[in-house]
Amino acid sequence: MSKDFLPIRAFDHVEFYVGNAKQAAHFYDKVFGFTPVAKMGLETGCRDRASYVMQQGKVRFVLTSALVPDHEISRHCGLHGDGVKVMAFEVSDAEVAIREAKTRGATIVQSVEAYEDGDGVIKSGLLRYAGDTVIKLIERQHYRGRFAPGYEPITSNSPEDVGLAAIDHIVTNVYLGEMNYWAGWFQQVMGFNQLTHFTEDDISTEYSALMSKVMENGSGKIKLPINEPAEGKKKSQIEEYLDWYNGAGVQHIAMSTGDICGTVRALRNRDIDFLRVPDTYYEDLKDRVGPIDEDVNELQELGILVDRDEDGYLLQVFTAPMQDRPTLFFEVIERHGSRGFGVGNFKALFVSLEQEQAKRGNL
Ligand code: FE2
Repeated sequence: MSKDFLPIRAFDHVEFYVGNAKQAAHFYDKVFGFTPVAKMGLETGCRDRASYVMQQGKVRFVLTSALVPDHEISRHCGLHGDGVKVMAFEVSDAEVAIREAKTRGATIVQSVEAYEDGDGVIKSGLLRYAGDTVIKLIERQHYRGRFAPGYEPITSNSPEDVGLAAIDHIVTNVYLGEMNYWAGWFQQVMGFNQLTHFTEDDISTEYSALMSKVMENGSGKIKLPINEPAEGKKKSQIEEYLDWYNGAGVQHIAMSTGDICGTVRALRNRDIDFLRVPDTYYEDLKDRVGPIDEDVNELQELGILVDRDEDGYLLQVFTAPMQDRPTLFFEVIERHGSRGFGVGNFKALFVSLEQEQAKRGNL
């Protein structure tokens, strides 16, 4: 394997452009178990936008809204609805990382800038990614503050967290014919390797199909599946996303937990909707996946899915879309050895997804 020319330390944060960041922050705090840690806006001297930084375990979300008309952020929300604008990766040297990416063919949206306050300095730059999404490469080891210069710490009476620990993977949907382009881009520009490739034979129902390539960085910490629709009898869930998002973009963010039953129970108690598979899924579960530590009755009650590969098994569950448009959703995942993505569950899930899609008149 070639030298990792763009070493990434970790997922740093995900920034969402939303219609009303204050209300979104309330939702992620009171329902999803995040703690608000920092904020920028009018009170901090920022006149055109408001941002809230939300933290749970190592998962960090930034929720941003425009404060003025005809702003890039409000245009983004008008076109795409609430969605992910920025995937940020922490690097040890932003200058070197952006220069390497540029030399290897990345489109630079913003070259490296330094942001400084009494707590130190942060450096970051932006690369163009699928649709209007951008990748931020951020250097923060010389910063001691809460998040970044310009933000002020905030506190709140948050309820208990729900046990979300870290981002496991982030999935992008792209148009037919673009998956190979972006898979190649991650190899060429970011030094990622292709971990797996699912074809329409792996992931299809009578009606719809998708293809997927999973890209992984040198350390294996960052996993980014890329989906494109495949020809089916009716409109696939990927096409439904692309239609309503008006472009390629982030489809789901998977977050890990050490206790999926506890996490899902807490979220269900706070009225988060999850996709349900038919109860028949659980009848032959033990035959399909072999021995597992969890009680199948509890998994069935909570709608948690199981898949096994040669390395072990995983437990996963998917939320309904997080906004009115059928676009972004979340996955909660607990891994017991498996490094996969639950391909054995895709068919059962597709049937469930298609039922929801039909209800929306989009199948
Ligand atoms: Fe996933």
